[in-house]
Amino acid sequence: MDLSAPSGQATASDLTVSDVVVNFQGLRAISGVSLHLRCGEVLGLIGPNGAGKTTLVNVLTGFQVVDSGTVRLAGEDIARWKPHERSRRGLVRTFQSVLPFGGLTALENVEAGAMATGVSRKAARESAYQVLASLGLADKAQRRVDTLPFGEERRVGIGRAIAMKPRFLLMDEPAAGLNDAECDELKGVIDGIRTTGECGVLLIEHRMSLVFRLCDRIQVLQQGATIAVGTPDEIRLDAKVRQAYLGDEAI
Ligand SMILES: Nc1ncnc2c1ncn2[C@@H]1O[C@H](COP(=O)(O)OP(=O)(O)OP(=O)(O)O)[C@@H](O)[C@H]1O
Ligand SMILES: [Mg+2]
Repeated sequence: MDLSAPSGQATASDLTVSDVVVNFQGLRAISGVSLHLRCGEVLGLIGPNGAGKTTLVNVLTGFQVVDSGTVRLAGEDIARWKPHERSRRGLVRTFQSVLPFGGLTALENVEAGAMATGVSRKAARESAYQVLASLGLADKAQRRVDTLPFGEERRVGIGRAIAMKPRFLLMDEPAAGLNDAECDELKGVIDGIRTTGECGVLLIEHRMSLVFRLCDRIQVLQQGATIAVGTPDEIRLDAKVRQAYLGDEAI
């Protein structure tokens, strides 16, 4: 059985990784990982530090070349596509450490994302307003981002990514540094993205309460290999996952 595939028929619009291997000067960071993400689902990618999660995101976004294996977007082999070609085709990531442009307003930040879709300035502005409203940030549109609380600043960064109209949104530790209330808001944002049904989300997180409440499926990496894929309930009860990562934490 292909552990990485969601149940039901695969569709032509999916993002798929098959048997990917990545080596760093003798260190095998990814050893034959497959992953399958479809529109409208939230897939969690979890595992201990150094398991290869960020490396896999870099493989998806084109910042990391693979030694072998394939990466397909809507059936097309994209392994040789440059990062900007992938983002133009709907593969968008959010970063933990790259903050929005602090000196610009929230609106300008999100507008920058909308402009990347090739629309006019006017259309980009309208779309940016809509995105900010959907994130509960309409009244912050004219605020400089570096004057906003951390959680709102993070949401502006996500807004910029959403404005790019991603087919797949790759989020590397979006809850890092957020307090519990901000984390709940983030959950609402990601739930909202799922509800549109137009975007698949890959969520890398160490915050298990968020992952287990939010994800449709969870894939667990350890030392560059997949040790489990399943529903939150299946993963919660998986002895290998408990031993490798979750321990006795009650989730
Ligand atoms: N550019 C690089 N050069 C050499 N080794 C690297 C490089 N990037 C990552 N690694 C190594 O590859 C392995 C996987 O790292 P990766 O950053 O993908 O892990 P991760 O699962 O994202 O961990 P974390 O939870 O700490 O973010 C680690 O052993 C790491 O030290
Ligand atoms: Mg990482």
